[in-house]
Amino acid sequence: MSELNNIALNILKNGKGILAADESTATMSKRLDSVNVASTPENRLLFRETLFSSSSMTECIGGVILYDETIKQETSKKSKIPELISKMGSLPGIKVDTGAKILAGSPEEKITEGLDGLRERLKEYYKLGAKFTKWRGVYNISKNYPSKLSIHSNAHALARYSALVQECNMVPIVEPEVLMDGDHSAEECYEKTSEVIKKCFEELILHKVNLKGILLKPNMILAGINYKEKISNEEVAKLTLDCLKNSVPEEVPGIAFLSGGQSEIEATENLNLINKYNNTNFIMSYSYGRALQQSALKFWSKDLKNIEGTQKVFNHRAKMNSLAAQGKWSKDLEI
Ligand code: G3H
Repeated sequence: MSELNNIALNILKNGKGILAADESTATMSKRLDSVNVASTPENRLLFRETLFSSSSMTECIGGVILYDETIKQETSKKSKIPELISKMGSLPGIKVDTGAKILAGSPEEKITEGLDGLRERLKEYYKLGAKFTKWRGVYNISKNYPSKLSIHSNAHALARYSALVQECNMVPIVEPEVLMDGDHSAEECYEKTSEVIKKCFEELILHKVNLKGILLKPNMILAGINYKEKISNEEVAKLTLDCLKNSVPEEVPGIAFLSGGQSEIEATENLNLINKYNNTNFIMSYSYGRALQQSALKFWSKDLKNIEGTQKVFNHRAKMNSLAAQGKWSKDLEI
């Protein structure tokens, strides 16, 4: 079991974080459409291989979350994607949920599926080289939501998933994402996030999950995107720290935030402040999708053959977030 703790710590050590490149084919197609690139398996592979062979993989990216299609693809040099990631000094991981579906009994909410046949799929991913996994539960905030039903059923699924993943000798990333859509205040986000996370740990403990061998991937505490006023980054950092300090058991080795629709700079700035004020023993790092890839994707879309230029853009973003994970980032380092 200490092996799982070592994997978790290795992913986030020395200012490293996680590249979430696990967009499903449907989501990746939306991202590629937005920059007018055809979503073919070749293009999806080309963009991802470009990121995975960047120099920042060695210094700043401790783990990469892959999608089923990518973990089985071969690079242009005919090696498997997990081999490329390991060769670069990072660890390959895999998203194993099969997506959020309408929750029976509360049709405006979602329940994440994927438990059927999971043990068999995990064995296959382990053989392909995966060292960790991800499962995302999703919750929206409004007057009556998230409901007790959604909080309970998603926590139950996250716990059953985590127990199976540890049985297969991999580290589960537990991702309960309280969405920033809506007009709620940061205080409401705090309250709901705290309830969601506490319930997850109650279920994880019930399912005998070793908390030293997991990573938590939460949202930061933000006001909804349609909230009447903007709250300061300092406030975001302080509320986030306070919420996690009060809801996450001390054994958990690390927390890696999702970016959730924040801009690249906002996600970096908030992470930096969280680390400046960090009064907990948790490593606080990143597991960003959009906030690590957006600029690189935009740059690449203008000339798919400009690998070096794309890597430069990606390396910069990765470096900025790695500095933020150590509380060492400042605005004047941005170009
Ligand atoms: O599950 C969500 C992704 O892994 C993180 O993506 O940083 O774009 O929210 P994001």
